[in-house]
Amino acid sequence: MYPSFLKVITLDNCESTNTYLKSQYQILKEFSPVLVTSNQQTAGRGRDTRTWVSSRGKGLYSTFGFRLNSTDNVHLLPLTVGISVIKTLHTLCDITGTLKWPNDILFNRKKLAGILIENIFSQNEIFCIAGIGINLNHTTLDFPPHLEHKAISLKMITGRERDYRADEFNPTLAEIIFQWIEKMKIDSDQIIDIANHYVRFMISESITFHQSTTQEMMKGIFKGIHRSGGAVIELENGDSTIYYSGEIV
Ligand code: BTN
Repeated sequence: MYPSFLKVITLDNCESTNTYLKSQYQILKEFSPVLVTSNQQTAGRGRDTRTWVSSRGKGLYSTFGFRLNSTDNVHLLPLTVGISVIKTLHTLCDITGTLKWPNDILFNRKKLAGILIENIFSQNEIFCIAGIGINLNHTTLDFPPHLEHKAISLKMITGRERDYRADEFNPTLAEIIFQWIEKMKIDSDQIIDIANHYVRFMISESITFHQSTTQEMMKGIFKGIHRSGGAVIELENGDSTIYYSGEIV
């Protein structure tokens, strides 16, 4: 059952649930919080202008839209949504995902789910748009060749014969996301502690970091998530720096 406060819009097909919510934002913000979910997307979007392949029957494609006051720790939203997806998968499928900063959900170091946050800032409030894609029924061959060894689906993990359906996940996902957003508003330390727990497999590992603002690639050691939500990376010259945008490749 969906939380009673949530307006749910179920589409059979759309370009992208994030794009839909953004384009209808002036109307939909009045019904906030809302969930837009679609059976397929023809122009699914990932972070950094990547595409998110969104075939019918293969994945969950859902976007939550809700208001926040600017003081509500909104910078911790990527981590909070990431935590919520991990908790949902644990609750419903008994699998333990991990987090790759800022918000990729991994299983056995392969990508199981991705999150695209696109907030709209206005004078007194922020309208948050949090898009979630979960690989449900893919086989290795369903992923584009460059992702074959980097991506995984729930069906590949659990071996369940029957296909997963997005509507098995959306109500619990909604309940958990809004619980954690309430926690995020009042206790940023709790979010950081849990996020650090989920990224612990990467701590002290050598990584390559792509900084999105400068497009620079650098090598370093991942030291964990700072209290501010940024990634702490020790660079080759020994300096530790906190990065707020970019990704570990
Ligand atoms: C990433 O890992 O790059 C983020 C992927 C986010 C995909 C989801 S699917 C639902 C929502 N609509 C989109 O177009 N993108 C997000």
